[in-house]
This record gives sequence, C-alpha cells and structure tokens, in this order.
Amino acid sequence: MRVLVTGGAGYVGSISAERLLAEGHSVTLFDSLVTGHAAAVPAGAKLVTGSVLEQPLVEQALREDGIQAVLHCAGRLLVGESVEQPALYYRENVLGGISLLDAMRAVGVDRLVFSSSAAVYGTPNAIPIEESQVPAPINPYGETKRAFEGVLAWYARAYGLRSVSLRYFNVAGATDERGEDHDPETHLIPNILASALHDRPLTIFGGDYPTQDGTCVRDYIHVEDLADAHLAALSLTEHAAPDLEVCNLGSGSGFSVLEVVRAAESVVGRTLPYTIAGRRPGDPPVLVASNSKAAALIGWRPRRGSLGEMVGSAWRWHESHPSGYPEVA
Ligand code: UFG
Repeated sequence: MRVLVTGGAGYVGSISAERLLAEGHSVTLFDSLVTGHAAAVPAGAKLVTGSVLEQPLVEQALREDGIQAVLHCAGRLLVGESVEQPALYYRENVLGGISLLDAMRAVGVDRLVFSSSAAVYGTPNAIPIEESQVPAPINPYGETKRAFEGVLAWYARAYGLRSVSLRYFNVAGATDERGEDHDPETHLIPNILASALHDRPLTIFGGDYPTQDGTCVRDYIHVEDLADAHLAALSLTEHAAPDLEVCNLGSGSGFSVLEVVRAAESVVGRTLPYTIAGRRPGDPPVLVASNSKAAALIGWRPRRGSLGEMVGSAWRWHESHPSGYPEVA
C-alpha cells in the first residue's frame, strides 16, 4: 500500500510511519515541521514539507507518489492553547482537514484514517466510555476533532469517502529510535521523566478528585499499539463501503497520576519528588475507554498495556535523547 502520513514527523505519525515501512508499505510524509522534527523521519520515507492547508501541494504529493490511502495525524493538540487560540485550532484542524479531503477528491484518493481524540467526549457521563456516548467536547481542541468527524461523515455520503476516526486516549511510550518531543511539553509521562532527568520537581495538578487517591485517572495506550491500530484501520478502508467508522483506542484500564509516578519510580530506580498544586482547568476526573468496538471492527487489542512497558520505553528514549530530537540543518 502507498500511504501518505500527514503530521508524519510528529510523535504518532513518525512511529506509525516506522511501522508501515517495516511492514513493506511505501510511505510519504507530509509535515510542516512547525511542531514535527525532521530527525524523526524514518529512513525510507519521503518527506514533503508543507501545510495541509496548501491544497495544490497536497494534490501534487498524492499524485506523484500514487497514494492509495491517507493517515491524517497532522493537527494541533494542546487543550490549553486551543482555549486561548481557537482560530488556530479551527484553521489547522478543521480547515486543514477539509483542504486535505478536497485534495484527495481532486486526485481520486478515497481512503482515510483520522487521528481523533477522547477529547470529543468532554466530561463523560459513564465509564468506560463507549462510542455511543454523545460527544460533548469542553474545549476547542475536542470541538475541532468532533467537527472534522462530522465532515468525514458527510463526505462519505456525498463523495464516497471511506474513513475511520480513531479516538485516542492517552498515548505513551516510545520505540528505540522515536519518542515524544513537544515544546512546550504538557503531557504527564514525559514531564515525570524530565523531572527525573533534569532534577526538576514535578507538579501534579489536583489531589482532590473523586478518585481512589485524589488524582486524575487516565487510560494509557502504547504508541506502538496505536501504530498496529492504524495499519488495521487502513486495511479496513480498502474494502469497506463508503462511510465513517468511529472507534476508541484505549487499553480499557485506568491509572491515577500517582500510580504513573510510582511506575516511573520503579523504572528510574529512585523516588521522584512532586508537589500537588490546584486542578488544571478542563481536566475530567476519569477517562477510561471501552475498547470492545476496536476489537470487533479492526480486530485490535492492546499488546503493550502495562504501565511499566510504556514508561520504561519512554524512559529509554528520553535517556538517550535528553534534549529531544537534534535539529537537522
Ligand atoms: N498532569 C500532571 N502534571 C503534569 C502533566 C499532567 O499532573 O505535568 C496530569 C493532568 O492534570 C491529567 C493527567 O496528568 O490529570 C494526564 O495529563 P496529560 O496532559 O498527559 O493528558 P490529558 O489526559 O490531559 O490529555 C490527553 C491527550 C489530549 C486529549 C485528552 C483527552 O494528550 O490530546 O487526553 O481528554 F485531548
């Protein structure tokens, strides 16, 4: 299969590209390199530098490389930033997505897998979260993911698009060569590991949630399990009828922030200091996926679901890349 991966120089995109290449597929990456890293591009993948908003450039990449399916990982992903700059999120996540779809239509590519998010659910009214819960995002980030899912559904009906929207829960872990390098870094596991590497104390946001130890509970999924799911979802679009399928990607188990800190302590081999501060605005107390639909739809089950494996692989990557990816001239 010849696949275009948008956001292919980012954390999820580059690791998925690594897997696609390992399975013998041909991979073109499309990335603006605004938040992605040229050094994350796997050997064997072609990189086109540009924004998905540049429709003619996307069309050219699709045509030149005879692309058959698109994995759309490009997009902005910080909840707090989305509240301060909704225009940026609507432009890049919604308009950017439409520009990509219109380029695909112009070239005749009709298969897409989309990186969506548990953020579409907002504060869920039942745990574990089934896909049948009505989306009710509580920030522009989640709203733009939901809006683009709506676009996918209508494009299926009108133009025959075959797409799968994967609602990621908390992605974690690394491969030997690729890991998480955001600036600023807001995610829990890299922040815990940075506190261990750079002797910076960790701040835990909120110790008074209605959970077993007062800290938020999340469902962590290994980025390599995510790559497996991408492959399975891309295969599904080959023979499926035009439609949008929506599917959660989570392990089905929840871990509190303090449990993640304990797991990191056993990986690092020492206690890690932290302070408990006030709650971070917009954090729901508990987010845990039901993953039965992923099993039924794409035959996917998490294979690397232990916290030790996720935190351990992330630790190995951060230890070998203490300043993140190198700049590429
Ligand atoms: N946390 C801390 N300290 C930190 C960082 C995070 O205590 O330094 C806490 C957060 O408050 C939260 C938990 O750790 O309770 C997990 O936070 P992350 O930022 O790692 O992840 P989120 O659950 O906030 O966000 C993830 C994805 C988002 C997505 C969201 C769905 O990263 O893209 O799930 O709700 F929108």
